[in-house]
Amino acid sequence: VPVSDLPARVGLLGGGVIGGGWAARFLINGVDVCLFDPDPAAPRKLEAMLANARHAYARLTLAPVPTPGVLSFAASPEEAAEGADLVQESAPERLELKRSLLAAASRAAAAQTVFCSSTSGLRPTALASTMTHPERFLVGHPFNPVYLLPLVELCGGRETDPDAVARAEATYRAVGMHPLRLRAEIDGFVADRLLEALWREALWLVRDDVATVAEIDDAIRYAAGVRWAVMGTFLTYRIAGGEAGMRHFMAQFGPTLQAPWTKLVDVPELTDELLEKIVAQSDDQAAGRTVGELERERDESLIAVLHALRSRGVGAGATLAGWERGLMRARGDGALAGADGAPPDTSPLRSDVREIPDAWLDYNHHVHESRYLQLCGDATDALLIRVGVDADYLQARGSYYTVETHLSHLGQLRGGDRAQVLTQILDCDAKRLHLFHTVERSDDGRVVATAEQMLVHVDAATQRVAPATAAVHARIAALAAQHAALARPERAGRRISVARP
Ligand SMILES: NC(=O)c1ccc[n+]([C@@H]2O[C@H](COP(=O)([O-])OP(=O)(O)OC[C@H]3O[C@@H](n4cnc5c(N)ncnc54)[C@H](O)[C@@H]3O)[C@@H](O)[C@H]2O)c1
Repeated sequence: VPVSDLPARVGLLGGGVIGGGWAARFLINGVDVCLFDPDPAAPRKLEAMLANARHAYARLTLAPVPTPGVLSFAASPEEAAEGADLVQESAPERLELKRSLLAAASRAAAAQTVFCSSTSGLRPTALASTMTHPERFLVGHPFNPVYLLPLVELCGGRETDPDAVARAEATYRAVGMHPLRLRAEIDGFVADRLLEALWREALWLVRDDVATVAEIDDAIRYAAGVRWAVMGTFLTYRIAGGEAGMRHFMAQFGPTLQAPWTKLVDVPELTDELLEKIVAQSDDQAAGRTVGELERERDESLIAVLHALRSRGVGAGATLAGWERGLMRARGDGALAGADGAPPDTSPLRSDVREIPDAWLDYNHHVHESRYLQLCGDATDALLIRVGVDADYLQARGSYYTVETHLSHLGQLRGGDRAQVLTQILDCDAKRLHLFHTVERSDDGRVVATAEQMLVHVDAATQRVAPATAAVHARIAALAAQHAALARPERAGRRISVARP
């Protein structure tokens, strides 16, 4: 993902469930956000959303996320739109309200500012009709939580310029999303049309006392829901057709479509009785958990799912991996360019400051010993990216393997502490890299651990120890020459032994 596609500043209209999620996604990606929301409680709600998102990203990724963007609040839609590269509207789902909001904001924005609406189903042609430059408007329909789920449906209207769609698409990709361009302008787009069909059937099942809301949720989450994240509906059904695939599946289940099992477009009347029933059953299902608690439960599990999908290179996990590669490339490019043109630095390399997540605590409420190695391993990765061992290099040329580590524990980290790793190159040749890491607690500068490591370069094709490319070796050697001016760490070269007088 080219970093140049990241906007410098976005304007947000509406900061509720969806606008707050957009704010979090953009801020975490280093984009400044200016938000307009007339609700005096909006800043408080937004802060809770941002806390959830920050908490989630600390677990989601080890990639070098940029310095967060700056959040400001606007007193009017015009102020939010002024100077923005992209304006994302997430106000209540009412056509007239959205139209007047978009019209006002569009008058204040530069002509090239792209406008997107988060609407779940309103048509872009109708939404854009009172805007200035309606050709730069399209729907960018996200999913809750916006900061974790990558899908955003793009739907242009009659007047939408393909260039505006392309720019919105590039922006969404740059913040880790998966844009899906619709081929036609329809109500509800693709995803909500599918979801509404499911929702309608679910309401019938509750109304007719066939199942409770909790039972319907179980019918989804114990089977189809698990499959959907991996393969969606069509590929799943292809496999369900056995060796003969889709043709057999259609032959087998085609006739049931004639039955049909479902209520099709009939909608149950939303009587007070049905509403009360749904709310009461939903209260039972929540079993006293607040929405905030449910959100955190949801996020933790979504992250675990995303990690599993990432390890397989599948669906939303592949999007996550692509975003992380983009961040690493950006970090590597920046470092190779000489860190903003600064003169050579003779201090150790400093990793990003990391907050220690509670998930790293063991049964004893201590940070597990493996996490100290993880911090150092991540610092090694950052060094390797800096010298050009990026995703392409790993695939084509090779990688450094750690062959020896000596970890010393000198203090303790606790959940919520912030820590940083300082890395010094002690020695190197074309095949070997000798490193020394110092783990510092950021709040008081105390050294809590050190790790001395030997790495060897392994060729990608032969899987044998082999020299690094000349370019990588030259960059390592240049850093090593700078680090030669540093004092040798006291613990370097120590062996483990019982000291005797
Ligand atoms: N909730 C979802 O799951 C979901 C998913 C995708 C898309 N959407 C769409 O996103 C949009 C927002 O939905 P939401 O769920 O965030 O609703 P929400 O009620 O949580 O948030 C709407 C926000 O808009 C603010 N607002 C009201 N009038 C405004 C105005 N004139 N200008 C600016 N802000 C104003 C409200 O104060 C509120 O904070 C809707 O179009 C909805 O269809 C929602």
